[in-house]
Amino acid sequence: METRAIIQKKRDGFELSGDELEHMILGYLAGDVPDYQMSAWLMAVLLLGMSEEETHEMTSLMMYSGRVLTPADLPSPSADKHSTGGVGDKVSLALAPLVASAGVCVPMLSGRGLGHTGGTLDKLESVPGLRTDLGIDRFIDQVETVGCCIASQSGEMTPADGAIYALRDVTGTVESLPLIVSSIVGKKVAEGAGAIVYDVKWGGGAFMKDMESAVELATRLVAETERFDRKAMAFVTDMNQPLGMAVGNSLEMIEAIDLLSGDGPDDLREITVLLGAAMLYLAGAVGSLEAGVDTLSVSISAGSARAKLEEMIHAQGGDGGVVYDTTMFPVSSETIDITSEAGGYVHSIDARGLGALVCEMGGGRKTVEDEIDHGVGALLHKKEGDRVAPAEPLATLFVPSGSDGSSLRERVGALLQISSDMPERRPLAPLIVTARGPQKWGGEGPGLP
Ligand code: URA
Repeated sequence: METRAIIQKKRDGFELSGDELEHMILGYLAGDVPDYQMSAWLMAVLLLGMSEEETHEMTSLMMYSGRVLTPADLPSPSADKHSTGGVGDKVSLALAPLVASAGVCVPMLSGRGLGHTGGTLDKLESVPGLRTDLGIDRFIDQVETVGCCIASQSGEMTPADGAIYALRDVTGTVESLPLIVSSIVGKKVAEGAGAIVYDVKWGGGAFMKDMESAVELATRLVAETERFDRKAMAFVTDMNQPLGMAVGNSLEMIEAIDLLSGDGPDDLREITVLLGAAMLYLAGAVGSLEAGVDTLSVSISAGSARAKLEEMIHAQGGDGGVVYDTTMFPVSSETIDITSEAGGYVHSIDARGLGALVCEMGGGRKTVEDEIDHGVGALLHKKEGDRVAPAEPLATLFVPSGSDGSSLRERVGALLQISSDMPERRPLAPLIVTARGPQKWGGEGPGLP
């Protein structure tokens, strides 16, 4: 099979066969297809798309390029969640122990942050002593003994995705729907959970900038996951402003603990409990989303979810005492308060801008080699729609020592817009997507399968 002929076939808009796709994917992984030919092919895919069959074939190739776990390798029932990423998204940190405390195992392999969104592993590693590089066998062991584990994706699983994603990143070919679907579903199905809930974020701080593309991605993620005999459901959720009040590694971990302690911001609690309820429902542990919400609310108020987090942290080598004493987290002692110049309503909070600022202060990585500063971040005191008086605090920044306060105040001031009119409220989770397609969420509730 000639690589050039396969590139030309895709370039000319024809559908590729399974063998041709295998030649490209496994050939690239083996080093037989060079970067320049793979790049040309990826660009042809980005411009011309892929059929459903090609996408399915590509997802299988991604998945079987490495070790694959099935639900039979894990205790049952099991469920996992994947978010397309957003600013202040610390849901996984609370969700894994929350769902496990209700009897459904959560095997969660996660990624590191790159760019403005931050990564679950970086946030979790703000716990003193905690390790996430466990290897697959220890990961499975911990899911069996504790009921949940959040660990790093090892090179053993979906190596083709690791290699191709790195090339997509530098060739402007990340934003291709079939490539995104095969990358995400290949990874998630290989991790073995029997049910997968997707949180597809839309808005300025998200990968998908408009609701329509988020719905399309959610629909394709659900359909592709179900082709591998796993249960799946997606929610399209708002990422125009940060989720919760905290942005930054230690601050977000503390906020996740607050949530499991019965506090924490309403929006974070609503999304976490909703996604968790969907995991319980798909795993067969409850008969409806409403019952899932009730079960998880009890887990929080009874303290069992927080105790499960303590157990998970301890199993991963960290000091579980952090769940009762959050002063143990490294948080920068140098702070800058941002206050409102005018009175009115908070009209918008630029999630992407705030995420990028925290990343620049050392809270995230610009390149994979960068070291993370867990102690920097931003704590919002107001969210969109809140009333604010002149000179009232809007946010506190936790900054590296020696930071220039006046330029940071000016920059953050521009990210938080105040207006005299109250802005229209957007629903937090406007849509649920099942195999039957997207439906409005909220109010009467969906007719679930
Ligand atoms: N996240 C992934 O894991 N893969 C993509 O292709 C895009 C986002």
